Amino acid sequence: MKTVSILNLKGGVAKTFTAVNMAYELHRRGYKVLLLDNDKQGNLSKAYGRYDAENVAPIAKLLSGGWKDAGEVIQHTDYEGIDIVTANMSLFGATWNLTKEENENQIGRYERLAKHTAGVNGYYDYCIIDNPPDIGLNVVNALAITDEVIVPVKIDEDALEGLDIVAEQIEEAKAFNERLHLLGVLVTVYQNTDGEAAGMEWLGQQGNYNILGVIKYSKKVAENSFMRKPIYEYSPCCGAAQSYKKFVTAYTGKAR
Ligand SMILES: Nc1ncnc2c1ncn2[C@@H]1O[C@H](COP(=O)(O)OP(=O)(O)OP(=O)(O)O)[C@@H](O)[C@H]1O
Ligand SMILES: [Mg+2]
Repeated sequence: MKTVSILNLKGGVAKTFTAVNMAYELHRRGYKVLLLDNDKQGNLSKAYGRYDAENVAPIAKLLSGGWKDAGEVIQHTDYEGIDIVTANMSLFGATWNLTKEENENQIGRYERLAKHTAGVNGYYDYCIIDNPPDIGLNVVNALAITDEVIVPVKIDEDALEGLDIVAEQIEEAKAFNERLHLLGVLVTVYQNTDGEAAGMEWLGQQGNYNILGVIKYSKKVAENSFMRKPIYEYSPCCGAAQSYKKFVTAYTGKAR
């Protein structure tokens, strides 16, 4: 199982939308995907129709250690082969409680599940983690089980703001997870205006970060943000759906 964290300190750069659609495209290629919603907003859980505002969220249980069996924390979605560990606001309390623990007990909380899913039956091919726009202890726990970090960026004058902090954090986290590395940036919500085209060129020239792909802006996505499901399901021909398809084909080397 390969574990991928979607991470950027900036809000609204399509982290969740990328997690939703990357998982869906992997699923369309026959891969088994486990999703970890690591954001108390629970947007990934909402996108896959499993958001529950009432009970302590499975991801909060992972963080607090209050679970026995993987079946308690992993749920199936409507798509066979996409499962999810959901989040809600209870993740905030669980993260806060963790700050009171001894340092050495703070970072291995997701490892138990990772070991379980990797070891017991090797069922999942990918684990995709959607992160919030900050680096709290829940994100540090995600980095402890992550192989690759993908950073979605929106092209604007401060597109790369905070990226050096993400890169630094990754370097630090290598102390407890040597597999971890920054795979590259994924340009999102891209509009082919003169300004954004120039921004893209500039980003390419920076040379510091591998550009993994470009996801086009689609009016269909903007108009249907209440839809909260994979874009391919309601607008398979639009630019955003086609871009995620292309990105995942390049990422896996497997077309659909
Ligand atoms: N390709 C696209 N075309 C048009 N709109 C898009 C596209 N990708 C994402 N959006 C819209 O941008 C908004 C932000 O996306 P998303 O919630 O995925 O960002 P985020 O980085 O996860 O935000 P947060 O930091 O709050 O978690 C959403 O309303 C989404 O519908
Ligand atoms: Mg999000």
